[in-house]
Amino acid sequence: MTTQFAPLTGTDLRAEIDRLRKERNAVILAHYYQRPELQDIADFVGDSLELSRKAAETDADVIAFCGVKFMAETAKILSPDKIVVLPDLDAGCSLEDSCPPDQFKAFREAHPDHIALTYINCSTEVKALSDVIVTSSSAETILQQIPKDQKIIFGPDRHLGGYLNRKFNRDMLLWPGVCIVHEAFSERELLKLKQQYPDAPIAAHPECPPHIVDHADLVGSTSAILQYAKTFEGDTLIVATEPHIIHQMEKALPQKRFIGAPGADGNCNCNICPYMALNTMEKLYTCLRDLEPRIEIEEPLRLAAKRSLDRMLELASGTIGQGDLGRV
Ligand code: 13P
Ligand code: SF4
Repeated sequence: MTTQFAPLTGTDLRAEIDRLRKERNAVILAHYYQRPELQDIADFVGDSLELSRKAAETDADVIAFCGVKFMAETAKILSPDKIVVLPDLDAGCSLEDSCPPDQFKAFREAHPDHIALTYINCSTEVKALSDVIVTSSSAETILQQIPKDQKIIFGPDRHLGGYLNRKFNRDMLLWPGVCIVHEAFSERELLKLKQQYPDAPIAAHPECPPHIVDHADLVGSTSAILQYAKTFEGDTLIVATEPHIIHQMEKALPQKRFIGAPGADGNCNCNICPYMALNTMEKLYTCLRDLEPRIEIEEPLRLAAKRSLDRMLELASGTIGQGDLGRV
């Protein structure tokens, strides 16, 4: 017989999440692209690198990950003894979908003299086939530590890879994946907005295509964009990344104006990540209550993926030598 639970709303839901968080010794981690109420109830909100670090460091028994599946899998890879739950297991990512492990493996085999520098937005299998993982906030630091004559495959985000190639004069081979959210910004509409607010700087995520990034005053990860929002001198900022990050900006600087960059019809919701949006307060409550859906990864696969993630954590904090940078 299945247990019946009465639906909870508002204050009750928040109180129950709090009660379960204590009872389970759980930590709630949330990405900046999550709904405001999930960001507000989380113990920690951050970008992909910060969330990976938190997941590796926490002494909680349970990690409730308000983000997408590859992020929760990263938490499990780094903290295998903890229970990792994701409110909605269908919270995927278009970049991960664009890079099936068998095709990536064949691509690697076709380029045996290249190392694979891989964006964290990919499956655990692709991490296991990679040499070093990067996030948008660690990619520049890590790439600069790789000798100029080392040949590199970069996947799955061709826009982030192309941005790094242009900025550091590299010629990494790019996997042809894109983020459907950042791909949807419209240059024409952005320029119209800029005419309306000529003094407003533009902050853009490097997952945006070049026709957006080229207009940006700041290109950086979600945490870099947030930091810029806290320090820029004007009163209005145009934000070219997933718009839920604006919640943190408005909380920190209620007197300033933050405008999400527009999609093709000028005011569509096409820049809301449909995967991140699957997580809700109700699903966070039920995953803490039931400890399901849980992330499970076979041990040999986890260990293989951990090598490239450990290298990222070490290179991002400067604790690995360049001599250790060959193929895994
Ligand atoms: P960062 O938070 O690391 O900038 O990543 C952005 C993103 O698209 C996550 O899916
Ligand atoms: Fe993936 Fe883009 Fe959504 Fe991030 S915003 S999870 S890259 S689809």
